[in-house]
Amino acid sequence: MSYHTETRVYTLDPQQPDPAVIAQAAEVIRTGGLVAFPTETVYGLGADATDSAAVSRIFAAKARPPSDPVIVHIAAVEQMAFVALDVPEIAWTLARVFWPGPLTLILQRGAPIPANVSAGRATVAVRMPSHPIARALIQAAGTPIAAPSANTFSRPSATTAQHVLADLNGRVDIVLDGGPTPVGLESTIVDLTGPVATILRPGGITIEALRQHVPKIEVRSRLLDMDATAEAPGQLIKHYSPHAELRLFAGAEAGALAQMRAAAESLIAGAQRVGVLVTDEEAAHFAGLPVEVVSLGSGRDLAAVGARLFAALRELDGRAVDVILVHGFGHEGLGAAIWDRLLRAAEGKVIDAE
Ligand code: TXA
Ligand code: MG
Repeated sequence: MSYHTETRVYTLDPQQPDPAVIAQAAEVIRTGGLVAFPTETVYGLGADATDSAAVSRIFAAKARPPSDPVIVHIAAVEQMAFVALDVPEIAWTLARVFWPGPLTLILQRGAPIPANVSAGRATVAVRMPSHPIARALIQAAGTPIAAPSANTFSRPSATTAQHVLADLNGRVDIVLDGGPTPVGLESTIVDLTGPVATILRPGGITIEALRQHVPKIEVRSRLLDMDATAEAPGQLIKHYSPHAELRLFAGAEAGALAQMRAAAESLIAGAQRVGVLVTDEEAAHFAGLPVEVVSLGSGRDLAAVGARLFAALRELDGRAVDVILVHGFGHEGLGAAIWDRLLRAAEGKVIDAE
């Protein structure tokens, strides 16, 4: 099944979106259509979360397997009790602390949410985004909005409206262009349906910040256990992928950079086009080599690195490189989310300098 339409694009002030445009987009949501919109993390591909036919259009538009559940976006904390059942106290606490913001909670699915939103599971992923365009749209639609990231399945998430159009032009009714998304990495997902709160995907809210409120929180991700089978559906290893092969280097900076330079030289000798994804500080190590260099900014500013990551992967694809070389950013703070995305873009393979 496919979904074809004429895509309309509207440019909005991200702080004060034009209510007339929001009303038009909300009407598209209410009548079962698809609207791509910015959140503070990445762009979402939205549909009425209570309308299973509309939700199935999301899966068709992005060629997403029906086994990969979608996040439900709400505009007010109290709406959690509408989309979910038996909401535990800890969910209200985390919502009060971190919402609106890049945190998604897995809860028992409420009756208004059809099964296909959650890929048939009894649970539902819920998040209240902080981006003014997202909030205005959900409010005006008067219904929660189901939205995965607005990219073709397995591609890097879209952090600009141009990325959305590159993947989904003709497959979404409206694109609301609110400029680049500020966080650039998806939300942190926390499962609250088991005996212990568990982080299924590191993201925009750091593990350290969550620990301050839930000291016993566990982390279940490829980050810590490279051989674990994916517990979060959709956390397939090949994800966030550029077309080029990505090689992820780990370990101490000096050794990793030397290995990356050696790898670049041997690839170039084999007539491969090489891209390096680096920080401003690392760029000098590749001087004099015929490589495409894209910088993520200063390695000391992880928020800026995270915000640029997906755009940088798409930029290197645009330069038609065969292989991308990149060094990790540690596991502290936002480094954990950055590492997770790089690891999956590298299909789980890490080259360790030690
Ligand atoms: O920041 C974000 O979370 C962005 C913006 C648009 O909100 N959304 C996003 O959605 O990243 P998506 O579909 O690309 O990733 C959602 C992931 C799924 O792949 C799945 O791993 C997890 O959320 N998920 C959704 N529902 C779930 C459920 N009921 N149980 C476990 N995991 C679930
Ligand atoms: Mg996604």
